[in-house]
Amino acid sequence: MPTPNSQQRALLERAAAVIPGGMWGHQSVAMVPDGYPQFFERAEGARIWDVDGTPYLDFMCGYGPNLFGYGHPSINAAYVRQMEQADTLTGPTARLVELAEAFVGMVSHADWAMFCKNGTDATSMAMVTARAHTGRQKLILARGAYHGAAPWCTPRPSGTLPSDRAHQIHCTYNDVESLNAAAAEAGDDLAAIFAAPIKHDAFIDQEAPTLAYARRAREICDQTGAVLIVDDVRAGFRLARDCSWSTIGVQPDLSTWGKCIANGHPISALLGADKLKAAAAGIYVTGSYWYQAAPMAAGLETLRLIRETPYLEHTVRLGQRLRDGLAERASAAGFGFRQTGPVQMPLFLFDDDKDLRLGFAWATAMLERGVYTHPWHNMFLCNAMTDEDITFALDAAEASFTHLKSAAPGLGPVAKMAFLLA
Ligand SMILES: Cc1ncc(COP(=O)(O)O)c(C=O)c1O
Repeated sequence: MPTPNSQQRALLERAAAVIPGGMWGHQSVAMVPDGYPQFFERAEGARIWDVDGTPYLDFMCGYGPNLFGYGHPSINAAYVRQMEQADTLTGPTARLVELAEAFVGMVSHADWAMFCKNGTDATSMAMVTARAHTGRQKLILARGAYHGAAPWCTPRPSGTLPSDRAHQIHCTYNDVESLNAAAAEAGDDLAAIFAAPIKHDAFIDQEAPTLAYARRAREICDQTGAVLIVDDVRAGFRLARDCSWSTIGVQPDLSTWGKCIANGHPISALLGADKLKAAAAGIYVTGSYWYQAAPMAAGLETLRLIRETPYLEHTVRLGQRLRDGLAERASAAGFGFRQTGPVQMPLFLFDDDKDLRLGFAWATAMLERGVYTHPWHNMFLCNAMTDEDITFALDAAEASFTHLKSAAPGLGPVAKMAFLLA
């Protein structure tokens, strides 16, 4: 009989032999507490099962793609139906036009859509479209904001060239003065301002955009002819049934989408306003799988559910219950526990926890109680979660805070987070 974690351990060893670093990218467990599973075998609704068959209530939702629940019946049925009929062909199917029409009908700033596979494809296309439209070079980006893993934006620049990031000027999110200074530095060569819809950087408290910052970004673009790009890859449709900045009345020229738009099936999108349409038509972007019809069919069904179901209100209500319940339990146990970001996209950090030793120990205690949380990245609620799931998570949290109270004095430094102290 396999011992607990035995399949996991065996796969980690086999991976170390044939996969560089044992795993690449954001799904590597190198940066989460020891004991977090890296390999999974099954998922349903709000739960994932690791390769040893242990189930977890999953607050990562695949790092964002899971909006309506893993294996959602009508989304998967649409996918399978389309796949059996036609998927990767010599030309696109009608699903492409239908999906573009659906997006244009839902996202108020958008007059057109183009589809690709990953968020990075969409943000890179946005950058190229903005430069093609303006004939200019400079981009303004908020320091620390994540826009993907291409050489121009990867957070780990090993193997990239300084020239890959030439013409980038950084500002501080929500700091209007720094935005003004960046615009002044760009002068008459400003092609675009990239904006995350909320500050959802890793390792730090999340922030809503201030109206002053968002409006100033719009104003600079209006005054200079530069392009305002909202990168909604992570937060799109989690805050609104429209572009996220529609909630504060600021419309971008371009927006980028991915992750949950087909509930996990591979497709991403660049949406734009009419004035960018000619530039978008003039760039050459493509990929062997970009026209796959099955993810488009899944996207159409996902967008229908977004329009016709109260998923947003449901995830906000459950998220608020989780936030209130966690605040109560953390304070009863005597911990300063910061919960930031929208309630349906929360991030948790402990006070006085520079190397995340409390955060790592609490997340481990939650994992041992069947709840998968993340100690430094924002999480997501999905529509498949129920009140019973939130009660389950809160019970696990209460036990985990109690455990942490006795364990905290004996906790040592977290070596893998030592860089945070540097
Ligand atoms: C805001 C944002 N932009 C772009 C990306 C890149 O998306 P992908 O990983 O699908 O390339 C991500 C992924 O996490 C993201 O959160």
